[in-house]
Amino acid sequence: MEVIIAETYEQMGKSAAQMVAQVINTKPNAVLGMATGSTPLALYRELVRMHREEGLDFSQVTTFNLDEYVGLPVTHPQSYHYFMHENFFKHVNIPAQHIYIPSGTTSNYEAFCAWFEQRILDCGGIDLQILGIGSDGHIAFNEPTSSLSSRTRLKTLAKQTIDDNARFFDKREDVPIYAITMGVGTILEARKLLLVANGKNKAAAVAAMIEGPVTGMITASALQLHPSATVFIDKDASGELKMIDYYNWIQQMKPGAPKH
Ligand code: F6R
Repeated sequence: MEVIIAETYEQMGKSAAQMVAQVINTKPNAVLGMATGSTPLALYRELVRMHREEGLDFSQVTTFNLDEYVGLPVTHPQSYHYFMHENFFKHVNIPAQHIYIPSGTTSNYEAFCAWFEQRILDCGGIDLQILGIGSDGHIAFNEPTSSLSSRTRLKTLAKQTIDDNARFFDKREDVPIYAITMGVGTILEARKLLLVANGKNKAAAVAAMIEGPVTGMITASALQLHPSATVFIDKDASGELKMIDYYNWIQQMKPGAPKH
């Protein structure tokens, strides 16, 4: 796992965006996996800026979102459909028919999940999956004790996640209890993983993900099993890492490292 520590949240977003842009520039019809939440906002802002000012072209890109709350219509301001539209899709040129977000209102969740997994395969698999991390160590909505081989499915949110996400809703009781989420197994099949994390409240989960054992209790620790996972964090989120000097040393020594 490559660990890149930025001074600030905005810088974290900028360096993560560089990696996304590199994937699109190398493969204009790349398939991107998208995350919601407050963490990737700086990354999306920078991608929008690159699109406007540098001509970063999304016209052949396809996207698959990680998750969606069950029961919220797409027009609900807290639905992930709405979030993605407002914060990213309406500012770039991804064709609407290339955008896939799990449905939180389907009448048949099992059939929808199977269809969603098949669409990912039919589109050639995900080239780069963007991820955030929950304070309980989850990726997507794969809560503690999720199988590390899990696939897209309906999931009951942990109380910790409901508490964390209550900040976006008027009342805690308004936070949906269920979500539809890609599984850890689905995520691990992406060719590259990019995880962003910021803030002191993520420091323990970040340390467990990078330096702890691989465990279903911290589903983000499954990134240790992936051959190409890069973690972009800000200073606050790096506070509990034991090997921080090594991660910084690797980055400093990078320009002189032997080329393969
Ligand atoms: C969202 C998602 C979640 C969030 C995580 C962190 O699509 O998959 O795993 O990434 O809950 O959320 P924030 O960024 O709001 O702290």
